[in-house]
Amino acid sequence: MVEEPTPEPGPDQLLVEVRAAGVNPVDWKIRKGLRVTEPLTAPRGLGSDAAGVVVALGEDAEGFAVGDDVIVSGATDAYASHLLARARQLTAKPSALNWEAAAGFGIPVGTAYQVLRSLQLTAGEMLLVHGGSGGVGQAAIQLARAWGADVVATASVPNHERLRELGAIPVEYGPGLLERLRDAAPDGYDVVLDAAGTEEAFATSLDLVADRSRIATIVDVQRADELGIRAWSGSRPGYLTEAERQLRFEAIGVVATLAEEGRFEVEIAARYPLDEASAAHEFSETGHVRGKIVLLP
Ligand SMILES: NC(=O)c1ccc[n+]([C@@H]2O[C@H](COP(=O)([O-])OP(=O)(O)OC[C@H]3O[C@@H](n4cnc5c(N)ncnc54)[C@H](OP(=O)(O)O)[C@@H]3O)[C@@H](O)[C@H]2O)c1
Repeated sequence: MVEEPTPEPGPDQLLVEVRAAGVNPVDWKIRKGLRVTEPLTAPRGLGSDAAGVVVALGEDAEGFAVGDDVIVSGATDAYASHLLARARQLTAKPSALNWEAAAGFGIPVGTAYQVLRSLQLTAGEMLLVHGGSGGVGQAAIQLARAWGADVVATASVPNHERLRELGAIPVEYGPGLLERLRDAAPDGYDVVLDAAGTEEAFATSLDLVADRSRIATIVDVQRADELGIRAWSGSRPGYLTEAERQLRFEAIGVVATLAEEGRFEVEIAARYPLDEASAAHEFSETGHVRGKIVLLP
């Protein structure tokens, strides 16, 4: 962690005092050099998601006032006490949503919403989510249920009760997965969202859904291209159109309203002080986090 002067908002920028920041797997993938980014020649920020209070406005910045509580998505340096954002990256935070839950919105909510909208999931359909207990999985289950779809989701057994609470039928991943998935939904599946990226997730998806345009992964875009299924990625060039990126921003306000109505919640898996971001990454890198990790400045 480094101490820096509080940044001054430039034209069209707003300064947000961060109350909580969300940790996402992409953060450590960037840190490890697994994503195309600017050369890492100097210390720099990390983190897309946060929640906080607008404390200063740059020239011509519109849409928010000093003192507004906001959800931040699509930032580049949210692991901080203060961040600069543009109005497009901010959404008014309902008072019913606490700081930690609001910081857990950005990437998981934006991704789940955009992918399910792009796959045209509709009421009455059966959705399969591989990786149902993570940040994206839990968001996808709740959105699908809110839209009137049924959901089967995979997780390890200790996380099955959580999937049931969210309205999904839980299934354990691992050997025998195809049989268990068939038993869980005897009438079959319409749509798949893969948030696990394993070979068994790809194989079972192809066995269960004939229409490859309704199977998507958010993990392995290369494998998706080989298999002729769909893939979206916010961090890899060419895997998100401008309209799809706009859906990810739109998601935050839509889902904040659902949360206000008590129809969407964010489970907090762990909290770390900002200067323990490395421990937060170690936990995220285990691949077995249930819910969201947040950093508290
Ligand atoms: N393309 C994009 O734009 C985009 C956006 C967001 C996320 N992602 C990617 O999507 C993945 C999920 O993101 P996330 O934020 O939801 O991660 P996360 O919160 O860290 O998810 C971890 C979850 O994955 C589950 N899991 C682990 N191994 C599994 C397996 N073999 N089969 C099924 N589930 C398994 C774990 O369940 P158990 O503990 O029960 O094992 C855990 O609950 C990450 O790879 C992330 O980088 C991509």
